[in-house]
Amino acid sequence: MVARYCFALALSTALLAHVASAQKCPLIWDGRVTLRTTPADFDKNSSIYDHQYVHGENQTWAEIIKFPVVEPSLFDVPKLSKPVEVTLSDASIFLSGPGGLQTGFRRSELIPATNNGTDPSVIGTTTFHWSIRNDPARPLNYSHEYHPAWHETNSYDTEQFTFETGQPFNQSFDPSVHNPRTLRLAGNREVSPENMLFQTPFTENVWHNWAVTLGWDSKTRTPEKGRGPGGGQFHVGVFKQPTGPLGINVLYEGYQESHINEGLIHGGVFIEDSSKGCVTTSLL
Ligand SMILES: *[C@@H]1O[C@H](CO)[C@@H](O)[C@H](O)[C@H]1NC(C)=O
Ligand SMILES: *[C@@H]1O[C@H](CO)[C@@H](O)[C@H](O)[C@H]1NC(C)=O
Ligand SMILES: *[C@@H]1O[C@H](CO)[C@@H](O)[C@H](O)[C@H]1NC(C)=O
Ligand SMILES: *[C@@H]1O[C@H](CO)[C@@H](O)[C@H](O)[C@H]1NC(C)=O
Ligand SMILES: *[C@@H]1O[C@H](CO)[C@@H](O)[C@H](O)[C@H]1NC(C)=O
Repeated sequence: MVARYCFALALSTALLAHVASAQKCPLIWDGRVTLRTTPADFDKNSSIYDHQYVHGENQTWAEIIKFPVVEPSLFDVPKLSKPVEVTLSDASIFLSGPGGLQTGFRRSELIPATNNGTDPSVIGTTTFHWSIRNDPARPLNYSHEYHPAWHETNSYDTEQFTFETGQPFNQSFDPSVHNPRTLRLAGNREVSPENMLFQTPFTENVWHNWAVTLGWDSKTRTPEKGRGPGGGQFHVGVFKQPTGPLGINVLYEGYQESHINEGLIHGGVFIEDSSKGCVTTSLL
């Protein structure tokens, strides 16, 4: 696995107002939703995201997804696609088949519907794009660690990359993090302490645009940075760790405050084929 590329831009999207969707690299999966998409559409099996996973046991996507009024992200297509907010409430407790209710976490994560763990998004060299911004009406609690996106192996034993914000649960795991209000891209999660690739302040009310290129051919991976490539799935949404002492089982233990109403706004989510070196850096 090679995380050979990442960037964070805060460019004005105003320039893109008249630009059509001129996608330069071959798209593998497009996570941008049309202006007519409703929250309830995410519960239908026709959704471009998995309609069943990952959210609270008794929740529907209709309750979780919001469409706040914000300017489109750099990689949304003006007049054609709109950003998607993914929210957390006290009900965001996932029931795992083998593990039962994950009471330690709060989880609302979208997964590409076609991303079954061995599909073309995890073959060759692919680039994962997402843009993110805060919702002032649904602030996070930066005393907690959050994962707004990550890529998990097909065997669920590690993550090839994790995108984080908030206070690290284990500060020793993230010794380079001194400001919880940062957006951070870390490499393979089995590497301890964490291999922090990039971090930048999580400035409020602007878009932060991210792209990560992964080489899925085992011959091109960086051996010292953990096993790979491992296929698997891309998650984008909001995942919240509990707080608590080191050593607890965070799946089931730790502290989560009640009456939460939190969210993150995602835009311009897509996966493209970068086998020939192509990576989209603008839709211009
Ligand atoms: C998808 O949902 C529709 C209506 O809700 C249903 O008729 C159809 O059988 C479902 N298809 C699959 C593959 O589950
Ligand atoms: C879902 O509803 C069932 C039945 O009311 C309840 O036992 C369970 O605790 C609920 N799960 C969550 C995560 O709230
Ligand atoms: C995963 O999707 C690919 C096509 O993208 C298909 O060839 C493969 O059979 C699927 N695997 C499973 C386990 O469904
Ligand atoms: C934020 O999280 C901390 C740690 O769990 C908790 O003590 C505090 O009450 C939370 N703040 C709010 C406003 O909920
Ligand atoms: C916290 O992180 C350090 C450094 O990566 C690691 O050695 C330690 O095992 C971690 N502690 C727990 C409880 O996971």
